Amino acid sequence: MNYNTLYEAIGGAPAVREIVEKFYPKVQAHPLLGPLFPANIDPVMDKQYLFLTQFFGGPSLYSDAFGHPMMRGRHLPFPITKERAEAWLDCMRRALSETELPEGLQQVVLERLSGPAHHFINTED
Ligand code: HEM
Repeated sequence: MNYNTLYEAIGGAPAVREIVEKFYPKVQAHPLLGPLFPANIDPVMDKQYLFLTQFFGGPSLYSDAFGHPMMRGRHLPFPITKERAEAWLDCMRRALSETELPEGLQQVVLERLSGPAHHFINTED
């Protein structure tokens, strides 16, 4: 890949926005995930846009607005099981598959998110 960051490789801001917009309806519709989220998903989508921008190597939009991400800590109020982590990743896989991104790049994005998703598991039931 002839890019410095994954953020550039996927196409920058519009690509991150598209992923977020395709991802959250799937999360909301998922029986294991939907109930964890507020009815008004817009603020969550906005935060995820800021976070993924930064996480993929783009500008540090999330930290500029909210300080250190401490993402595992921010997820502690929610019961995250292995099943939920895998459901989250599956929603992301399906969202990515609806974009124009080449499959290899979709795979890189998914692998990059797989570590954190499993790291956020905080309960067994
Ligand atoms: C492992 C499965 C996951 C579950 C079940 C989950 C669930 C949630 C929930 C319930 C919220 C709070 C929504 C609210 O504001 O009420 C949230 C926030 C958030 N999640 Fe996750 N999440 C998961 C994985 C991830 C991953 C892998 C990332 C990114 C690498 C991520 C990034 C975020 C961000 C950026 C926020 C907003 C944080 C803030 O309030 O500033 N999540 N998540």
